[in-house]
Amino acid sequence: MAIKKLSKDTLVVHGTHTVHTISMDLVPPIHMTSTFKFKDAEFGAGIFKGTEKGFIYSRLSNPTVSLFQEKMALLEDGEDAVATASGMAAISALALTLSKPGDNFVAGSTVYGGTFALFKKHLPALNINPRFLTPIEACNPVNIEAVIDQHTRFLFIETPANPTLDIFDIELWARIAQKHKIPLIVDNTFASPYLQEPISLGADMVVHSTTKYIGGHGDTIGGVVVGSFQMMNQIREQYMSHFGPAMSPFNAWLFLRGLKTLALRMQRHSDSALKIARWLEIQSKVTKVFYPGLESHQGHQTARKQMKKFGGMLAFELSGGFNAGQHLLNNLKLCSLAVSLGDCETLIQHPASMTHSTYSEEERKKAGISDGLIRLSVGLEHPDDIMEDLEEGLNSA
Ligand SMILES: Cc1ncc(COP(=O)(O)O)c(C=O)c1O
Repeated sequence: MAIKKLSKDTLVVHGTHTVHTISMDLVPPIHMTSTFKFKDAEFGAGIFKGTEKGFIYSRLSNPTVSLFQEKMALLEDGEDAVATASGMAAISALALTLSKPGDNFVAGSTVYGGTFALFKKHLPALNINPRFLTPIEACNPVNIEAVIDQHTRFLFIETPANPTLDIFDIELWARIAQKHKIPLIVDNTFASPYLQEPISLGADMVVHSTTKYIGGHGDTIGGVVVGSFQMMNQIREQYMSHFGPAMSPFNAWLFLRGLKTLALRMQRHSDSALKIARWLEIQSKVTKVFYPGLESHQGHQTARKQMKKFGGMLAFELSGGFNAGQHLLNNLKLCSLAVSLGDCETLIQHPASMTHSTYSEEERKKAGISDGLIRLSVGLEHPDDIMEDLEEGLNSA
């Protein structure tokens, strides 16, 4: 049976692992080794030259990490993948491979706070400058084309976006990227390859913080870029080899393990989040709920077009603003007050003072991140228990 024809639910379990003919282990081993022996001097020189296939050193490549990369490429419909030590390492690898001083790039203004800091502070220090578009501006192709010029090296969108769950139309952005021959990168962390396949929709590359839904258990930090053989080789040669943010084999093994339950987890996260979002919408102290599965969400129709379900992330605002939010956060018993997302446990946090504190007040306002916004990563607990905890917290708010 052709592996590409299998359903996603089956692919996340099986992937590309072929059982070793002697050890016959069902689960691949962890290759915890920093270096690899060459069978002779000619072979060693051949690997360095690229005329022989094999492993050299685990900063450059490792069998467990390779297996994880192959599986991510398969799930994201790419040719190849590069695994990194964190999601931020994956995003910086891409940005620094694709651009040089004097270049610019176009990005959605609503992105993870660490990505925003990289784009707003650290890349401009190298004279690589962002052109941000708000989610509303990003709906109109005229606005996107207006900020592209001959020095634009990539387009970057996060969808659903962190923390407001804004939806960017991947097909629309891909059409513009193709017209201008500029690669489109989609941060697919919130959706996971189970719910959304940006490359099938026309994007050139996908990036993930695998720390989140790919791992799924809140115990590992990692990242990955998926794209063409040519682009992945360029990232390996220009960035990974000498900047060195490689993923550890142990982490790759944990991500391979996490992936096996991705389909089941994403279904449960999504179903619970939709139920909780609908419930939050009718709570008297909640003024607005941000969840792409709600008909009231601005990006609902686009989300229906490009996502299988709507994911486990949602956000909401309270009538009492941030003070009420603080009371809520301090009075929860089941939901953990913590950043990160995609874990089995429900996590809740305040973007303006936590994950998105890298934005100035004005930048946050422009990106739609209000001071009263609370972000919830709906976990795998029973949704009724999560709602009961939230209800008690809201009563104290
Ligand atoms: C959408 C998104 N992309 C990238 C990152 C960065 O990933 P990491 O924390 O693994 O470096 C995060 C982290 O929260 C995120 O939410």
